[in-house]
Amino acid sequence: MNILVVGSGGREHVLAWKLRQSPKVKQVFCAPGNGGIAGVAACCPVPADDIDGLVKLAKEKNIDLTVVGPEAPLVAGLVDAFQLNGLRVFGPSRQAARLEGSKVFAKQFMQRYKIPTAEFKVFSAAEEARAFLQRTRFPVVIKADGLAAGKGVFVCQNLEDGLDAIEQTMVVKAFRNAGNQVVVEECLTGEEVSILAVSDGLNYALLETSQDHKRIFDDDLGPNTGGMGAYSPAPVATNSRMYDIDRYIIAPTIRGMAQEGCPFQGILYAGLMITPDGPKVLEYNVRFGDPEAQVVIPRLKTDLLDVLLAASDGQLNDMVLHWDARSCVCVVMSSGGYPGVYEKGKTIGGLDRLAAREDLWVFHSGTKKETGQVVTSGGRVLGVTALGDNIETAVQRAYQAVEEISFDRCFFRRDIGARALRRCQATRVPEFNS
Ligand code: AMP
Ligand code: GLY
Repeated sequence: MNILVVGSGGREHVLAWKLRQSPKVKQVFCAPGNGGIAGVAACCPVPADDIDGLVKLAKEKNIDLTVVGPEAPLVAGLVDAFQLNGLRVFGPSRQAARLEGSKVFAKQFMQRYKIPTAEFKVFSAAEEARAFLQRTRFPVVIKADGLAAGKGVFVCQNLEDGLDAIEQTMVVKAFRNAGNQVVVEECLTGEEVSILAVSDGLNYALLETSQDHKRIFDDDLGPNTGGMGAYSPAPVATNSRMYDIDRYIIAPTIRGMAQEGCPFQGILYAGLMITPDGPKVLEYNVRFGDPEAQVVIPRLKTDLLDVLLAASDGQLNDMVLHWDARSCVCVVMSSGGYPGVYEKGKTIGGLDRLAAREDLWVFHSGTKKETGQVVTSGGRVLGVTALGDNIETAVQRAYQAVEEISFDRCFFRRDIGARALRRCQATRVPEFNS
C-alpha cells in the first residue's frame, strides 16, 4: 500500500516511521515533511493546508490511505474533500472536527451530554464579556472560540489580565475570526493528562496514556508552548481513574457525536485535568498530540496501519491493541527564544552518532536539509525519544542522547518526567533493611 502522511512535525515523523515498518506498506509519502521525515518517507512540497493540492497528490501517487497530522486541514474539511474524491482517509470530517475547531461547540456539546468540564459562559460581544468579568471571581480562563495555533487560551489571575484577553481576542482580533466568540470558564486545578482514543465512529479503543509539558521552563513556569516533552504511561492515570475517564468522558463523547449525526472517526484526544472532583475535560483535540504521539506510538506493538485502516473502514470492533510495557520519554529540543522570536538555519551536530542506538529515536519537528546538512527551521526542532524499563531509565537515556546533540542557542527543559518519577517513588514499597 502507498501511504500519505500530511504535516511536517515530530508527530508526522513518528507516524511515517511507524507506518513504514508495516509489511503491507510499499511506500510512505509525506506532505510537506521535514529534514528528518525525508529519511523515512518521500517528501512532496505540498503544504498541509492545500486541500486541493493534497487530493491531486494522493491521486497522482496512487495513495491507498492518507493520515492527517495537524488540526487545521481537518477543521477545514480535508477528510470530506478526500471522501468526495473516493480517497480513503483517516481523520474526522469537518463537522466532527468542530470538537477542536470551535470551543463553543465543544463546551455546549459537553453540556448536552453531561460530560464533566469547567463551568463556562459564551460571549459574542466584548462589552458583555467585560461586564461579566467585572462581577466574576478570578482566576478565570478565557478562550478564543476558533483555532489560534495554541495561543488562544488565557489563564487570567485578575480583572486586568481578563480585560486584556478580551481586548486581544475580540477587539484587536489577534486571532482574526477565531475571536468572534469567546468562552470564559472556571479555572481548574490539578494534574493534566492526555487521553487518546482511536475511533471508527461507533467503536473505539483507548491508547496508552501520556503527559505533556506545556510550559517553556522547568517546574511548569513561563509561557505555553506546543509541548516541550512527554512521557508514557502517565502514572496519574490510575486504573480506577481510567475507568471513570472511559465511562464518563470518552464513551459519551463518541456516542454523543454519533447521535449528533457527525460520528467521530479518527483520533480523539481529550486533554484532562484530574481535579479533586475527578477528571474534567479542558479541551478536545481531533488528532494525535505532539509530542504525545512521540511517546505513545513507539510503545504500540500492533501494526499501526491495521489500526488506522480498521478505523477508517468502521471495523474497529474486534481490534485489540498491544503495547510495550516499558516507559517512553521524549525531550523536545527547541530554538533559543521559542515560543517567542528565534533564529533559524543553525547546523545540528551529533545526529549520526545516535542513529544506530537501540530503542532511541530523534524525531524531527523543525528541521530541513541544506547542502547535505540538517539545519533548524522552526521553534521546536527535535524530539529525543527513548524507551526504558522504567520511567527513570527512559529519562536517563533520553537526556544522555540530548547531551550528544548540539546546535547554536538550543534549549530544552531539564525536568521532563520529573513528576512521574516523584509519583512512582512515592508509591514504591520501601525495602526492608536486614
Ligand atoms: P487548551 O488549548 O484548551 O488545551 O489550553 C491550553 C492550556 O491551558 C491547557 O493545557 C491548560 O494548561 C490550560 N487550561 C485550559 N483550560 C483551563 C481551565 N479551565 N483551567 C485551568 N487551566 C486551563
Ligand atoms: N501537545 C499538545 C497538542 O498536541 O495539542
